[in-house]
Amino acid sequence: MDYLEIKGQEPLKGSVPISGAKNAALPILASTLLEQENVAISGLPAVADVSALLELLEHLGVQIQRHDSHTLEIGTPHITNLQAPYDIVRKMRASILVLGPLLARFGSCAVSLPGGCAIGARPVDLHLRALEKMGAHIHIEKGYIIAKAKHGLKGCDIILDKITVTGTENILMAASLAKGETKIINAAKEPEVVQLCHFLQSAGVEISGVGSSELSIQGTKGQALHFKPIHIIPDRIECGTYLCAAAITNSTLSLSNTNAHHLEAILSKLSEIGFKIDITEDTLTIHKARTRKGFEIITTEYPGFPTDLQAQFMALATQCEGSSLIEERLFENRFMHVSELQRMGADISLKGALAQINGDCVLMGADVMATDLRASSALILAALVAKGKSRVHRIYHLDRGYESLELKMNALGAKIKRLKEK
Ligand code: UD1
Repeated sequence: MDYLEIKGQEPLKGSVPISGAKNAALPILASTLLEQENVAISGLPAVADVSALLELLEHLGVQIQRHDSHTLEIGTPHITNLQAPYDIVRKMRASILVLGPLLARFGSCAVSLPGGCAIGARPVDLHLRALEKMGAHIHIEKGYIIAKAKHGLKGCDIILDKITVTGTENILMAASLAKGETKIINAAKEPEVVQLCHFLQSAGVEISGVGSSELSIQGTKGQALHFKPIHIIPDRIECGTYLCAAAITNSTLSLSNTNAHHLEAILSKLSEIGFKIDITEDTLTIHKARTRKGFEIITTEYPGFPTDLQAQFMALATQCEGSSLIEERLFENRFMHVSELQRMGADISLKGALAQINGDCVLMGADVMATDLRASSALILAALVAKGKSRVHRIYHLDRGYESLELKMNALGAKIKRLKEK
């Protein structure tokens, strides 16, 4: 197992390229189960979650020609297996994204239940209820979701009790091949959902309301799709993480391959803290701040402040003036990084879903454990400003969603080594 050793208090400067969005790549790759011919996908991030989904798709019989680590051609002329096995699904919860397209195109499938994860229970009940409403018969057997829709899925109105990103994406993909119109009410509006809609639209699926909380999808009555090539949008969470790296070390950094429209909540928070950010069509430059004020954050669905940047902003809050407040509204257990930040000397008190962080803190290098993907990057950010060396263990969490983090950080001046646990 690898760990990262970080020498703190090194100044950062320069420019860093942002990779394609993992959370956009995953549903787009899963949706290729809906098509027979090959389609080219570029701008894929080289991260473990994408590799895990490609492994699952190959297991199902999807044909993949890899051009390089960011580009491939992919299509599903035939399926050889309708089972998504536990061994692959347990590596990545987002494997549930194959459920909708498999069922819609092939009429039956068995997908291992993803189970809980460190940040909370994360059920998939809303995905299942929606597919049942579209006519599927679903039962759970030996840890697998067994889903059948012999005569295809039927369009209907689906009201989501909670806004769910992968739930909306699963229903979108299923509805694309259903008979008639499906309406998703209270749909997720994340840019990654919007890009999936555009990809489906490129294949001729009629979708209205894209980017709003009400989507209407006109299905193709089971006819496979023919997609147009697509380039994955920039990863707004990776981008937010590098903005935090600049902010926590109080450095001037430029980020390329960015889309500021997807980052409004984050950019406005950074400007409230005291940072000036220059924006062009695809670059962001964050400048050193004279003072960094404490702040308040409530995580919500897009376009609100993303839960996936909560941990990184908590690390930043340790270096701001006064105290900051962070309320986590989406996941019940997404404060696992708090105890690790405390090991580095952070002054944080927790009350339920609310964290108070007292700033102006001198962090000290320590051995800390990554507990989930975004918590890992928060610990690295803290280590960048800590006195002395830190070692961040269990970074397989980090590798799920950050492409070459230590190479990108080192190119900016950080001193990070990837080492093997003894
Ligand atoms: C996606 C993102 C993840 C992000 C999260 C919230 C991907 C691959 N992952 O995860 O990075 O942190 O959105 O922005 O895109 N819920 C239910 N029942 C369901 C589905 C969800 O109760 O059937 C609840 C969840 O427990 C959670 C909330 O709804 O409290 C939102 O979860 P959801 O949007 O589904 O998260 P994911 O799609 O898993």
